[in-house]
Amino acid sequence: MSASPEKFKRAVRQLQSLTLLFVAVILLLCAFLVGVLVNPKMLRFEASTEPYVEVEADEEYDRIENGIHLRTGFVEGEGLMAVVNNCTNCHSAQLVTQNRMSRKRWEATIRWMQETQNLWDLGTNEPLILDYLSTYYAPQEEGRRPNLVIEEWYDLED
Ligand code: HEC
Repeated sequence: MSASPEKFKRAVRQLQSLTLLFVAVILLLCAFLVGVLVNPKMLRFEASTEPYVEVEADEEYDRIENGIHLRTGFVEGEGLMAVVNNCTNCHSAQLVTQNRMSRKRWEATIRWMQETQNLWDLGTNEPLILDYLSTYYAPQEEGRRPNLVIEEWYDLED
């Protein structure tokens, strides 16, 4: 019982193509590994944690135009970045900018967040932040409408 030469030849050819396929797969894998070593961002899931840092390094990110910090809407002034970095992590900047308070009430709001909302100790930034808030987000007198300014009088004829 010996295999015919035809069958043998076919088996050899099949083995050859299998080996070729195997080598090709190994080569592709090596190329991918080298690629990852050279540029780890090739692994998508790794790159996805990075854009935040890249965006922050961009100067556009903290651009100020007409006295407004574009990204948050905060007014430009001393202490701006301390406020941006400590007060926009949990809620929008709008929650801050829509408020007008005295220094005392800003401080009380910060204490309340520290006691109930896990706001961290602001350290040396606290006086800076309080100065900023009580300067640019102080209460406004708007109890009554401004006086009318009458520029032209009508002469009433009888
Ligand atoms: C650790 C998270 C956290 C940080 C950081 C934080 N806050 Fe808050 N803050 C909260 C939460 C939670 C609320 C309640 C939000 C709500 O009611 O939707 C809140 C509410 C507020 C309010 C509304 C209070 C009210 O009476 O309605 C103001 C104003 C405010 N924060 C200002 C600030 C300022 C200024 C800073 C920076 C010093 C800051 N927040 C940082 C968590 C935080």
